[in-house]
Amino acid sequence: MEPEEYYRRKERVALFVSLIMASLSMVSLLVAFSYYCYIRNKVSKRSHLQQMGHFQMSFNCVFEGLDNDDNKSGISNSSLQVACEKGLQVFTFKQLNSATSSFSKSNIIGQGAFGSVYRGVLNDGKKVAIKLMDHGGKHGEEEFKMEVELLSRLRSPYLLSLVGHCSDSNHRLLVYEFMINGGLQEHLYPTRGSNVFPSRLDWEARLKIALDAAKGLEYLHEHVNPPVIHRDFKSSNILLDKNFHAKVSDFGLAKRGPEKAGGHVSTRVLGTQGYVAPEYALTGHLTTKSDVYSYGVVLLELLTGRVPVDMKRPQGEGVLVSWSLPKLTDRERVVEIMDPALKGQYSMKEAIQVAAIAAMCVQPEADYRPLMADVVQSLVPLVKPHRSTYAPKSPTTVDSNSKCSDSVLTES
Ligand SMILES: Nc1ncnc2c1ncn2[C@@H]1O[C@H](COP(=O)(O)OP(=O)(O)OP(=O)(O)O)[C@@H](O)[C@H]1O
Ligand SMILES: [Mg+2]
Repeated sequence: MEPEEYYRRKERVALFVSLIMASLSMVSLLVAFSYYCYIRNKVSKRSHLQQMGHFQMSFNCVFEGLDNDDNKSGISNSSLQVACEKGLQVFTFKQLNSATSSFSKSNIIGQGAFGSVYRGVLNDGKKVAIKLMDHGGKHGEEEFKMEVELLSRLRSPYLLSLVGHCSDSNHRLLVYEFMINGGLQEHLYPTRGSNVFPSRLDWEARLKIALDAAKGLEYLHEHVNPPVIHRDFKSSNILLDKNFHAKVSDFGLAKRGPEKAGGHVSTRVLGTQGYVAPEYALTGHLTTKSDVYSYGVVLLELLTGRVPVDMKRPQGEGVLVSWSLPKLTDRERVVEIMDPALKGQYSMKEAIQVAAIAAMCVQPEADYRPLMADVVQSLVPLVKPHRSTYAPKSPTTVDSNSKCSDSVLTES
């Protein structure tokens, strides 16, 4: 073979081999890319399900049948059934009747808009608080169902747990974990209400309660999708366990928040006087910032030891927010609003910081109020980590007319 012919042949072979290799590389590239796309698709589907799945699916179900208009009737029985399957106990009226010694007056521990609250002991010895709805009607029924549905799905150490419920014929009862130290307002205003807890909460305990309650709202607003707006956040809906850990309670008025950020839902104005955000009261537009306002009012109660509205006070002092707001942002005047019972327990630096948080929460412009996550972040450094429990000097449950007693209330 001629050397020229030999080299030409070699050149053709080399070209052929290069072409084959190039095509093979293209094919492997294509295969690799398709595999990548397939995996990516799978991963994004899974993370989407993880993010949205639990809560979104639950909430679609929770709020199924409930429009933004409160006048539409409640949730279907089938969704109540779902709630029951989620680990809630279904009680008969007879069981709860025997748990409360036939709803004896001596077992009443409180009274709210829903009805009376009884102390009870279940067959297995578990202590519970039992709310007996004493008014029927569509709204009572809706509140009952909302409470059952929400609490069966939300799980947070900062929210009160529902043990079960009873819907025997006309009776509607809710059974909760028992919070031995009752509602926060009973400790802030010991002579009000049916139970008297003689010890005033000290500064550290108040900060810890403020943080726990903020975490409860943060969970509702930011860890649940779509967010839940509590709509009735107030000191009597913050309950305290034996270690004075606080839990947020009462979801009967709760609403699903807007899907899109910055949106609102329109509803008829509900809530408790003194805690309702001004823009919600005026327009009925409800956002998570309405809860932030109510939270600010509770923070003011903790700072001042005053109720949100008290028209018996001198002129200009009756409405807690209007009275305290000008002083909250003036470092020199913060001391004027502080609860005299706290004297000597706090540093001015701490008081000014908490006052600043309260001022931001209750400001009239909703958009400028902080997120609950911001509030939590601001309070965390103020709460002493070593103080995990609060042991008041002498708390007790006594009748409404008596003053302080020295007996100690413990969970037996
Ligand atoms: N789980 C519980 N454990 C112990 N005490 C409770 C429990 N739930 C309620 N209570 C007591 O019953 C009181 C009344 O509670 P309830 O929620 O019925 O009414 P409220 O919060 O005062 O008003 P509203 O009906 O507007 O929420 C509370 O302040 C508290 O002392
Ligand atoms: Mg309540």
